[in-house]
Amino acid sequence: MKFFADTADLDDIKDLAATGLLDGVTTNPSLVAKSGRDFKEVVREICGVVSGPVSAEVVALDHDGMMREAEVLRKIADNVTIKVPLTPDGLKTCKKLTADGTMVNVTLCFSANQALLAAKAGATFVSPFVGRHDDNGFDGMDLIDDIRLIYDNYAFETQILVASVRSPIHVLRAAKIGADVMTAPPAIIMGLFKHVLTDKGIEGFLADWKKTGQSI
Ligand code: E4P
Repeated sequence: MKFFADTADLDDIKDLAATGLLDGVTTNPSLVAKSGRDFKEVVREICGVVSGPVSAEVVALDHDGMMREAEVLRKIADNVTIKVPLTPDGLKTCKKLTADGTMVNVTLCFSANQALLAAKAGATFVSPFVGRHDDNGFDGMDLIDDIRLIYDNYAFETQILVASVRSPIHVLRAAKIGADVMTAPPAIIMGLFKHVLTDKGIEGFLADWKKTGQSI
């Protein structure tokens, strides 16, 4: 499963890239607002650090407006992935951009039927938001199960990008289902390293090593 960082914070992206774990980045208008940075500038800088797909979201709601914004964004770098909402205009834009060889991430997916539409429109990625599903009393991971089944039934190549990831359990379940990608805030990705027995083990080994009086 590929790991994308769900952030527009360049320092966090650089730290994660240094671990060798980072396969791409997703941003959205809220994350850009949180960074306080200029959108195009921050996307350009992220693309300079990460060679994998970097999602940049359009804000127009109509097809012509989305195409205009996509033109600007895809010129920033070859790995820019245009993010469009799961609406009729969004999918029309998706079809046109992917036909041109541009990667497209169809976002704000909340049902398996919507994911089916995104795949039929040729999306490179579909982003089902599991955390927001959970917030509303559903099990977001059931949605991932359904999408995996449907995509496998028809051998759709659209990659399932599990989004709105809020916990290590989301990551684990996404991997067990066979999602292609998950995108999570950097703190969640770094949290995957943590295990109390790993820390305890290091502590014990170091204490015993000290007794040997040796150095390497
Ligand atoms: C990813 O592409 C989404 O923008 C993101 O995962 C949304 O996460 P949130 O529900 O935590 O805002």
